Amino acid sequence: MKKLLLIGCGQIGSALARDLTEFEVHVWPHDIDDLTLDALREIAPDAIVNAAGKTDLAWCEANAREAVRSNLEAPVRLYERILNADRPTRFIHFSSGCVWDGPYTKDGQPFTPDIPPTPSSLYSWTKAAADAMLFGIDPKHIAILRPRQVYSENQHPRNSLVKLQKYPKLIDTPNSLSSIAVIEKTVRYVLGSEHDWSGIWNVYDRDITTPFKIGEMLAAEGLREKPQRISKAELDAFHKPKRVDTVLFDERFEQTIQPEDVHAQLTRAIAELIKTSQIS
Ligand SMILES: NC(=O)c1ccc[n+]([C@@H]2O[C@H](COP(=O)([O-])OP(=O)(O)OC[C@H]3O[C@@H](n4cnc5c(N)ncnc54)[C@H](OP(=O)(O)O)[C@@H]3O)[C@@H](O)[C@H]2O)c1
Repeated sequence: MKKLLLIGCGQIGSALARDLTEFEVHVWPHDIDDLTLDALREIAPDAIVNAAGKTDLAWCEANAREAVRSNLEAPVRLYERILNADRPTRFIHFSSGCVWDGPYTKDGQPFTPDIPPTPSSLYSWTKAAADAMLFGIDPKHIAILRPRQVYSENQHPRNSLVKLQKYPKLIDTPNSLSSIAVIEKTVRYVLGSEHDWSGIWNVYDRDITTPFKIGEMLAAEGLREKPQRISKAELDAFHKPKRVDTVLFDERFEQTIQPEDVHAQLTRAIAELIKTSQIS
C-alpha cells in the first residue's frame, strides 16, 4: 500500500482522506510550513497532495500577507523541502480554475491549461503565482489540478450546492463545475499512472451549467425558494472582490479521465444531499 501525505482538511482534503482508502493516508493537520524536512523523512510518503490554502476571496483581500504566505510561499517552500528529502515523491498541488476571468477567452473559447492566467483577485493571483513558481522549480514532477466551483453530496459549508441554497438572486452565466467525484477520479489517475501524469489538469464535469440553473434544480427538490435572476453587472456592483465565471476545457483530461456529465452528477449529488440533510 502506497503512503499518501495529505495536507489540508477542508472540503476537498477531508473528502480525499475519507475516500482514498487504497492508500495509507497520513493527514497533516498543521500548517504547511511546519512540515519540516525531518517530518517528511519520518513519514516518507510516496506522494503528497496539497489541498491546503486560504480560499475565502474577501478574507484574502483583507489578509493579503497571510494569503500570500499560505497559497504561494508555503507550497513553494514545501516543494523545495520535498526535493531535499532525497526521495522520489509525487506532488499534487490544488490550484483553481479561478486563475482565469471569463467565462470565455476574448475569442469566445473555454480556457485550456496552456492559456496564461488572467487573475482578477488577490486569491487568484496567489494561485496563479504558486503554479508558475512550482513549475519554475520542477516542470516535470508536479501535477497541478485546477477545479472550479467544487460540489458534492456532503453537508460542508464550502460545498457549492450548500452555498447556492443561500442566495435569493443568482446569475445565469455559463460555468464549469467540479464534483468531488471527478476530482477523486483525477487524483487517483495522477497518483497511479506511470506516464503523462504531470503538468496542469483542468478538472471539471463535462458540459456547463449556471448558478441560476442549479438554483432551479435545488428549488425543484425543495432545498430552497425559486431563485431570481440577477445580471452579472448588477452582481459586480456589490460583490467584492468580483465573482469570476470560468468555462474550462482540457483535451488530455477529457480523454484520460472521461468526466461524467455535470447534469447527471448534480442530480445524483442533490439526491444524496437531501438524504444527508434529513439525517442531520
Ligand atoms: N472549493 C472550491 O470550489 C475550489 C475550487 C478551485 C480550487 N480549489 C482549491 O482546492 C484547495 C482546497 O480547497 P477546499 O475547497 O478544500 O478549501 P477549504 O475547504 O477552505 O480548505 C482549505 C483548508 O486549508 C487550510 N489551510 C489554510 N492555510 C493553511 C496553511 N498555511 N497550512 C495548512 N492548512 C492551511 C484551511 O484551514 P483554515 O480554514 O484554518 O484556514 C482549510 O482547512 C485550495 O487550494 C483551493 O484553492 C477549491
